[in-house]
Amino acid sequence: MKKIVIAGAGATGKAAARLMNPNRVEFLGYADNDPDTWTEPDGSMPKHWDSSDGRMPVFSVQTAVELKPDEFLISALDKERARAIAEQLKVCRFYGDIVQLHDINEDFDIRSRCLRDLAERLTDVQGDAAEVGVYRGDLAWQINELMPERDLYLFDTFEGFDEADLVTERAYALSNAEAGEFSDTSVGDVLCRMINPIKCHIRKGHFPETSEGLENKKFAFVSMDPGLYEPAFAGMEFFYPRINEGGIMIVGNFSNTRFRGVRQAVRDYERKIVSEGEAPLKMVPLGDLHGSCVIIK
Ligand SMILES: C[S@@+](CC[C@H](N)C(=O)[O-])C[C@H]1O[C@@H](n2cnc3c(N)ncnc32)[C@H](O)[C@@H]1O
Repeated sequence: MKKIVIAGAGATGKAAARLMNPNRVEFLGYADNDPDTWTEPDGSMPKHWDSSDGRMPVFSVQTAVELKPDEFLISALDKERARAIAEQLKVCRFYGDIVQLHDINEDFDIRSRCLRDLAERLTDVQGDAAEVGVYRGDLAWQINELMPERDLYLFDTFEGFDEADLVTERAYALSNAEAGEFSDTSVGDVLCRMINPIKCHIRKGHFPETSEGLENKKFAFVSMDPGLYEPAFAGMEFFYPRINEGGIMIVGNFSNTRFRGVRQAVRDYERKIVSEGEAPLKMVPLGDLHGSCVIIK
């Protein structure tokens, strides 16, 4: 068995840990430079550790090197940060393998692959497509390519997170999201990437206000990826009842510990519809690094 330590105990590191093959890999724990993430001397997890992420220990980088793992998997997706951690490992005299998750992640993407498989199964389902939270259109262009005949409604402020949504984030400690995060994009940049832009309908501005006028539409596919509680809950309320039977919703960041509001919003929406006599949501986790989950109508 190959012994691995994941460098970085953040959301991406935890997502990578969930993807490990327990038949081939012995996961020793995480290494992190932030002492607030370290396991207490009595073995207990730090106060803010999310219990759904298991109880694997978090060490300082030096302590993790002393465990003599065969490999460090560097989970930082930012190349500069990842390079700095690789340097730090060498300074700590680690001579084993150093694998960069960003190299693997850029070439392989479970969410895109699933989208392709799901699109094939949707051919008999009538309705439009939509994405709430488009950012630079990384998923939107693929939806447009795979379903070129469907109208595709694209919702985003294109100015990043809106202060109005952050009140709930702070009040319930759901994330440390900041206003303007994800603002480095534009409608033009996104439309340039579209294979069939004539079918794309940009709804720029704060969701759910931008859904006005679409009340009579029905949908076959929705990507729900705003990252925050308020638009995610509003998105469930608007889209779920309008998805045709057999249609699909992909919820991004559902199990991302950085954006805990999304899971909470889906759970709260499910609780609400169940209390009204509807069936629970049929949810399947994708196990990808985005922490996505698929809901089948
Ligand atoms: C995680 S990013 C989306 C990533 C994108 N789906 C992808 O696959 O690359 C979240 C996006 O949601 C947008 N967003 C968040 N809250 C919103 C709201 N209330 N109305 C409109 N857009 C919102 C942000 O501006 C940001 O671009």
